[in-house]
Amino acid sequence: MGQIHIVTADITRLEVDVIVNAANTTLLGGGGVDGAIHRAAGGELLDYCRSLGGCQVGEAKLTPGYNLPAKWVIHTVGPIWQGGTLGEPKLLRECYENSLALASEHKLQQIAFPGISTGVYGYPKREAAEIALSVMQAWRERFQRIIACCFSEADAQLYQNACAQCIRE
Ligand code: AR6
Repeated sequence: MGQIHIVTADITRLEVDVIVNAANTTLLGGGGVDGAIHRAAGGELLDYCRSLGGCQVGEAKLTPGYNLPAKWVIHTVGPIWQGGTLGEPKLLRECYENSLALASEHKLQQIAFPGISTGVYGYPKREAAEIALSVMQAWRERFQRIIACCFSEADAQLYQNACAQCIRE
């Protein structure tokens, strides 16, 4: 109960209440985890996203999961890394906070996050993991399970190094 789990997986395969998407401000799909989520969820997700009018950096919006094993998707938009002096850490923190607040509001108990901004958007992975973990720690009692879903063993190791008490699966 209330633990943070580090999992190496394709996030689209996880059977949880909600997975988080690292989207862009249009919410109309893209590459990386965003592309994978849209492919696995099916075209209805894009149709629904069209009705949302985009999403600001740091904000979060909820949609159904359609064909995904996850019931819901929270779409958030991470900051593009530009050296770290343009408010990127604060914006990345807001992505995690707003996603967890939204999930909590909807009483979703299990949530899985990818490493927001750490792909195409270029956020340094260690710094991003530290922000992710500190927000997850602050919220963990409100959830049954918070999953840091890593796409490689190397990323999972990075999370493990930053969080000795996290459960590695
Ligand atoms: N499951 C889990 N993690 C994944 C998966 C997956 N299937 N695929 C990639 N990752 P990125 P960003 C990891 O680039 O940096 C899109 O085009 C990946 O290894 O997906 O926030 C959007 O539309 C990395 O650690 O997202 C935006 O335009 C992390 O997910 C832009 O990319 C995030 O990588 C957002 O860039």
